[in-house]
Amino acid sequence: MVILAVLPGLAMADDKRVVFYAPPALVESGLIKYIAPRFSLKTQVRVESVDDPGAAELVLGPEGRALFSGLGARWHMDLRSDGKGAQRFADWLTSDVGRRTVQSFAPDGDPIFTEPKVQKAVVAEVEMTGDAVLGQEASWVKCVRCHVTERGRGGFGIGSTPSFFVMRGFEDWQARFAGFYFLKPHAAFTQVEGVTDPFPIDRPSPIAVIDLTLDDLEAILAYVAALAPADLGDPLIHQ
Ligand code: HEC
Repeated sequence: MVILAVLPGLAMADDKRVVFYAPPALVESGLIKYIAPRFSLKTQVRVESVDDPGAAELVLGPEGRALFSGLGARWHMDLRSDGKGAQRFADWLTSDVGRRTVQSFAPDGDPIFTEPKVQKAVVAEVEMTGDAVLGQEASWVKCVRCHVTERGRGGFGIGSTPSFFVMRGFEDWQARFAGFYFLKPHAAFTQVEGVTDPFPIDRPSPIAVIDLTLDDLEAILAYVAALAPADLGDPLIHQ
């Protein structure tokens, strides 16, 4: 008898409640008190808030699907259970009704939360010296055939050739840039005035030659020094 009474009760509990965690900032804003009863009224699923995200079936925070922005952050939903109550809360939070409810929360008259905003990659403002500006131009003219050298200026590059940002992220980028003209493939088509021997007239470079002066080289190094390296974990945003 006891078992029969308890088992259906447990099943009911799972269907009819969701164990939920929201960070203090969201709780203190009043948002949770505002949305939870509205959701429960519609679905008969009770929202049980806990203080420990580890114990929750659904967690609002920095991970998971983006739900809304506000209070200086973008808030996400991390659904960690396939319990029916948790699932219904997740469905509701991502539905039009749920989103409108969040966005209609305006305790002082002005809504606090909006659609989730795209978080822009932080691009470092770089102060470039005169040399670096020359180097930016020299890179564009002489290297962009194969390398992406600049953000936001298009550029072509060859798919397999590393961009300047990626190479800037190498620990030894300076050594590589200082000596690249000795390295494959450049040695075959690059001549540096006063450093490399000019290509003999009877054995010209097989492809368009890059002529560089030592000043060009220095300028390119200054330019690359000023570049913010690509975040190699996140290359799509930066290239
Ligand atoms: C014709 C195509 C081409 C041009 C033009 C070119 N590069 Fe490269 N570069 C490459 C390729 C391909 C690699 C990759 C080589 C590899 O992975 O072994 C490379 C690699 C590099 C590297 C890394 C070398 C290393 O140690 O791994 C540097 C630094 C570099 N290029 C600088 C330049 C600079 C500066 C210019 C312009 C002055 C330039 N490149 C022009 C094709 C080119």
